[in-house]
Amino acid sequence: MESKLPLTQKYKPKSLREIVGQEEAIKKLSDFVLNYSKQKKKMAFVYGPSGTGLTSSVYGLGKDIDYEILEINASDLRNKDRIDVIIKPAITQYSLFKKGKIVLIDEIDCLTVKDRGCLQELAKLAEGSSFPIILSANDVWNKKLNTIRSKTLLIEFKKLTIASIIKILEEIARKEDIQIEKNVFMEIASKSSGDVRAAINDLQLLSYIEPTSKKNITEEDLKILGYREKSENIFNSLKLIFKSKDIEVVKAFDNITSMNMGEFLFWVDENLPLEYKHKDLEKAYNSLSLADIYSKRIMNWQHWRFLVYINLFLTLGVALSKEKVNPDYISYKKPSRILKMYIQKQKSLKKMAVVEKLAKKTHTSIKRARHDFEIFKIIFTNSSDEIKEDLAKELKLKEEEIEILN
Ligand SMILES: Nc1ncnc2c1ncn2[C@@H]1O[C@H](COP(=O)(O)OP(=O)(O)OP(=O)(O)O)[C@@H](O)[C@H]1O
Ligand SMILES: [Mg+2]
Repeated sequence: MESKLPLTQKYKPKSLREIVGQEEAIKKLSDFVLNYSKQKKKMAFVYGPSGTGLTSSVYGLGKDIDYEILEINASDLRNKDRIDVIIKPAITQYSLFKKGKIVLIDEIDCLTVKDRGCLQELAKLAEGSSFPIILSANDVWNKKLNTIRSKTLLIEFKKLTIASIIKILEEIARKEDIQIEKNVFMEIASKSSGDVRAAINDLQLLSYIEPTSKKNITEEDLKILGYREKSENIFNSLKLIFKSKDIEVVKAFDNITSMNMGEFLFWVDENLPLEYKHKDLEKAYNSLSLADIYSKRIMNWQHWRFLVYINLFLTLGVALSKEKVNPDYISYKKPSRILKMYIQKQKSLKKMAVVEKLAKKTHTSIKRARHDFEIFKIIFTNSSDEIKEDLAKELKLKEEEIEILN
């Protein structure tokens, strides 16, 4: 049984030596950290396209020079109290074992506009920092970051060249024993637009093709990665995934939107053992768990761009896990208890989000707003579309939050 880790995780660079194609950036980064006491700017800002080694480089450097990485969640910058409790001690206290330390605030562009004041606060604190502080973002020129950008040493990461990506893919394919024709590497690499994470995920998906055959993966197989069309409902989507082994299967996904994606995962999970047996089943669960890993990252970190990987592992990965299609008719089961729990949880999360917005707008406590929620719901439901729209705008309600009010 192969590892359940995504290949991107399994082959995460363990040292700066394993970071491909970012020589200049890495040199700047190492210099910043190693000569920190001499730096005029007390924060470095690594930025560039997604999947090019921003996060990996910081961790790689930490390993190389035996520094601890203290990663601070960007959301901890949201208010001054959190900054005092979390950031302040982090940049002033020496670690237990007198190891060096790098403070990493990853994906700082996830902050919302209203957090700008906190960035100022961070910049002020950084002036007296004893430890290198590294920020990361894809878009460093984002207006939100205006207050802080000039106080940082900018370190640009570049899109990887096709040649560099091919090199990375070939190495992984060799270690994983994935047989692939040369021009397929070329295709994946050029499709990735310089994003190594995307390229490696494509490779992982292709590795699900013909698990036991000796045949190489060809350009023909590759077509499945680019194919999209609509299908109708959950049952059809399940059927597509379980009963086919070809490009048709990606059709399954476009109607499973981000909102019910978590739900669809349960559907696949519930019905998989009815369709697949033994090795196929094991392999399909493996792919499902990869989808699940990415979906947790979306839930915890709001990394919506990972959605595409969930889609692919959930559809293609599962479909390609079988050696042969089971010809029997199977009537699919609705996932029972656990799905109900999940839906209930989603609902209460959405309700809580509305309650919070209500509390803020009406300057009342959460407790009070929770009490008022039912009244608000009745008013909302019975309002004209125009008023609904106004209310939604006023409270900045998201689509799915409006849904629970209707
Ligand atoms: N320059 C690189 N050399 C080798 N592998 C890389 C490189 N960049 C990315 N990877 C691969 O892609 C994965 C994701 O990289 P990383 O976490 O560094 O992304 P990132 O640049 O921080 O992107 P994001 O902004 O989306 O977080 C790594 O685990 C590694 O497998
Ligand atoms: Mg990153």
